[in-house]
Amino acid sequence: MSILSFRDVSLRYPPRPGSRAAGNDRLVLDGINLQVASNELVAIIGRSGSGKTSLLNLAAGFIAPTSGTIAVDGVPIPGPGADRAVVFQDDALYPWLDARDNVAFPLKLKGMPRATRQARAQQLLELVGLGDAGDHHVWELSGGMRQRVGIARALAAEPRFLLLDEPLGALDALTRTRMQEFLLRIQARSGAGAVLITHSIDEALILASRVLVLSPHPGRLTAEIEAGFSAEILAGAATEKVKASPLFKRLHDGLTSLIHSLPNEEAAA
Ligand SMILES: Nc1ncnc2c1ncn2[C@@H]1O[C@H](COP(=O)(O)OP(=O)(O)OP(=O)(O)O)[C@@H](O)[C@H]1O
Ligand SMILES: [Mg+2]
Repeated sequence: MSILSFRDVSLRYPPRPGSRAAGNDRLVLDGINLQVASNELVAIIGRSGSGKTSLLNLAAGFIAPTSGTIAVDGVPIPGPGADRAVVFQDDALYPWLDARDNVAFPLKLKGMPRATRQARAQQLLELVGLGDAGDHHVWELSGGMRQRVGIARALAAEPRFLLLDEPLGALDALTRTRMQEFLLRIQARSGAGAVLITHSIDEALILASRVLVLSPHPGRLTAEIEAGFSAEILAGAATEKVKASPLFKRLHDGLTSLIHSLPNEEAAA
């Protein structure tokens, strides 16, 4: 079991050129404390601009915090690493590679011989239900298929943590619902912990065992609720039935009013 932790993490970006606040750095995240274990899926919800992607970029090691520490098993992360894989909102696949080579790419970086990495990539494609699509070009795949290739690629390096930034945000409602169940099962099977950024309260409640609310200006984690619905779905309960339960509705309403009661983005900017 691994733990990804944020301790008293704050992040400032330099001021936008020409802004009235020129000279003042902008505090985007303030005092973030967070622990995610490698057997759980934690969702973070918050309004646009509250700092969700910034938080994920910190966890990935793409950017460094202004203060505080981000660590895996107590060891501060030095930057990006194969132990933390990112899935972006847009699939971010390499268009010049076919689906299988996209999945195999992290294995190439690891120096795995071509035949071995191709075989491993094929296994991963089968895991995400795309065993027949390995030779397809990226532009021949639907949005949902592309996201599945992106998830297979993220799993290729056997990360301890999956960092998911609105991975289903660009999909139509029907595909999104199907992909939510898919993501739930894949994450449970992979044994990797996951941080899921989402705008959707439904999605957060269905997929996560804990839902954290990031309030804006500056981004602070202001609420945490436990949700057991993912365990019910993994045990065979129908998602629609779970969503219709009084407890789901109560938590959904609670989170909705919490997010709407947060300070208005424009007013607080
Ligand atoms: N690289 C950067 N340099 C300067 N400012 C940035 C940078 N990235 C983000 N910001 C600013 O930080 C704030 C938080 O942005 P971030 O992208 O983390 O929000 P978000 O919650 O992911 O929003 P969304 O839901 O729209 O994706 C915004 O005001 C944004 O303009
Ligand atoms: Mg974002």
